[in-house]
Amino acid sequence: MYVEMKGINKNFGNYEAAKDISFRVDEGHLAALLGPSGSGKTTILRMIAGLEQQDTGDVIVDGNVVNHIPAKERGIGFVFQNYALFRHMTVFENIAFGLRVQKKGKKEIRDRVMELVELVGLEGMHKRYPHQLSGGQRQRVAFARALAPRPQLLLLDEPFAAIDAKVRKELRIWLKEMIAQVGITSLFVTHDQEEAVAVADEIMIINEGRLEQMGKPVEIYKKPKTSFVAQFIGTSAVLDDFDGFKGFEEVPKGRKAIVRPEFVEAFKFETIK
Ligand SMILES: Nc1ncnc2c1ncn2[C@@H]1O[C@H](COP(=O)(O)OP(=O)(O)O)[C@@H](O)[C@H]1O
Ligand SMILES: [Mg+2]
Repeated sequence: MYVEMKGINKNFGNYEAAKDISFRVDEGHLAALLGPSGSGKTTILRMIAGLEQQDTGDVIVDGNVVNHIPAKERGIGFVFQNYALFRHMTVFENIAFGLRVQKKGKKEIRDRVMELVELVGLEGMHKRYPHQLSGGQRQRVAFARALAPRPQLLLLDEPFAAIDAKVRKELRIWLKEMIAQVGITSLFVTHDQEEAVAVADEIMIINEGRLEQMGKPVEIYKKPKTSFVAQFIGTSAVLDDFDGFKGFEEVPKGRKAIVRPEFVEAFKFETIK
């Protein structure tokens, strides 16, 4: 399944949260929405999921406009920022939740849940409650719960935000492998550039409700289209004025230069007495 947004605009009162957003994520790809807090990433996911209605534009899944299809009929799995597991339910019941809503049979539910427990590496833990799991294990349960009803699309909103740095690094590699194995088209929100580069096939840079650039991590890094993108990806200094810098004579006036420290060498010269 591929997912597409075409000319999407969304206002909250006078505030423009999404400005003419268009993109496509191909079947089986994992794309990251990367941008600062408040840039509109969650709003984009919520519009795809049908939890928020855009003012103009289309959300298209596999060629079909789904604008008027309610959230629960869109076949989308969602993993939220906070764990959002049901605290009073076991791992088994958490994963089974969507299947019970679909009124699946007892055996089918059991088989599917146990298959997912194994897939996410939580064998033997299906009777535990969320408080008996680590943060990383809880997010694995959240992932399994989202996958249980076999969604056509998986949306993850800062799934590792509440997890400490070390576990987070392991978990994101785990997630990338898991998604590749399941083969599900996925969109993943983060404000952490390192996380986006490590996990995503494609990155979309979101700034103030605009999609500034979409591309493979290395393309975005090597050929940033805007100064925002240049500064957001990698560490860089932007020079407005490069009078006196050798080799910049050809650069037309009014352009800016990006200096990345990894391409700069600093020398200490010997003084000759
Ligand atoms: N339901 C809402 N009502 C009013 N403003 C909202 C609502 N949801 C989001 N916003 C505003 O839209 C902007 C984008 O929010 P959001 O999509 O959550 O950003 P991000 O996920 O990138 O942090 C923010 O300024 C936020 O305050
Ligand atoms: Mg958000």
